[in-house]
Amino acid sequence: MEEIVDFSIGKYFTFEEAKKTPIHRWFFYKEGFSPSLIDLLLKRSRMGYEEICDCFCGVGTTLVRGRELCYSVKGNDVSFLSYFVSKVKMEKFNVERLEREFEKIKERIGKVRGFEAIELPKLEFFEWEKIMPKRNLRFLKKILKVMEEMEEKEKEFFMLALLSVVRKSSFIFLDGGVLRIRRRNVPSLKEEFYKKVKEMIKDLERHRFCSNEWGIFLEDARKINYKESVCITSPPYVNAIDYTKVYGVELSFLASLEEIKRIRGRVISSSVFKRAELKELPEKWKEYGRFPIVVNYLRDMEEVLKSLRKGENEVFMVVSNALIYEEHFFIDKELAKIMEELGYRVEIIVGKIRKTRIGNVVREVRESVVHGWLE
Ligand SMILES: C[S@@+](CC[C@H](N)C(=O)[O-])C[C@H]1O[C@@H](n2cnc3c(N)ncnc32)[C@H](O)[C@@H]1O
Repeated sequence: MEEIVDFSIGKYFTFEEAKKTPIHRWFFYKEGFSPSLIDLLLKRSRMGYEEICDCFCGVGTTLVRGRELCYSVKGNDVSFLSYFVSKVKMEKFNVERLEREFEKIKERIGKVRGFEAIELPKLEFFEWEKIMPKRNLRFLKKILKVMEEMEEKEKEFFMLALLSVVRKSSFIFLDGGVLRIRRRNVPSLKEEFYKKVKEMIKDLERHRFCSNEWGIFLEDARKINYKESVCITSPPYVNAIDYTKVYGVELSFLASLEEIKRIRGRVISSSVFKRAELKELPEKWKEYGRFPIVVNYLRDMEEVLKSLRKGENEVFMVVSNALIYEEHFFIDKELAKIMEELGYRVEIIVGKIRKTRIGNVVREVRESVVHGWLE
């Protein structure tokens, strides 16, 4: 296993670039990476495949960039939100039709009747009245009412615009890994929504995909069977993020509470808040026995890597090492070991060294790409 350092790729491990890039910017996903990372990693690819896959596709960064670069692409995620965002980004829209629908929305929004009866989706931890000012709640109901009459495809386009701004126009904010409420001045949902729709339509006017071959699935990464493709992906990091909670508000528009809870049971074990129990402790991870979350994470990731190996896929996995109670876990090295056991040649490309404060102590954690290929 070779280890190299290349800090030039590290700056693309965040969503910063994606925030400003057409199509990619349709939904802000703090956990996403940036499109240029795909270009850089493809330069290091060894197996010459013409297909790209992403088994933790998030908001579709790999898939969108892959299609822009003329690859056929396939991706999946267990979250309804990720699946939905990626799908809408990949869809082919008739721009003139969208513009006409947008004009209709603006015309109808002031006159729409019966919107008071619209039921807002049930939230797991909050009540709508407590998380949104009245004027934004009214607009939310109105726009949902207007959207009822749209064709499914256009409705999804406008729904994505709405999901992309709904939290910004509420009192909710993200504090560490937890959503909290703080009453404050928040932007008008109507203005934010109109701004987002305009931006999205503008992106579509200028954007062309080079490849039209794509597939997106609502599926668990442990169950996929992609074949002979370059998998450029990033699994959840071992940290405090529970995606089903952090994106609970957006998810509620796409899935019922029961479905959201079901997703929670299927996500890779990575949230340090989740109660972790060890069913058994494999000899190779014995030293991590005190940290069941790490063992469960590695076990889940081993399953993912096995299914990628079965299809002879090349793998690029962006991962972060973890700090739990000041203990440093080299997740990249552990994943590299699993890959080697499966017959991969492996290199670890260290892209970034992050400083994290724990109590009074500043510790370093690194983020890397684990690259595995078959010879
Ligand atoms: C770090 S994010 C990926 C972000 C992505 N690279 C992007 O740029 O948008 C990890 C994703 O893994 C998904 N995930 C968690 N467990 C999963 C599982 N068992 N199967 C598939 N996806 C899963 C989460 O829903 C999340 O979207």
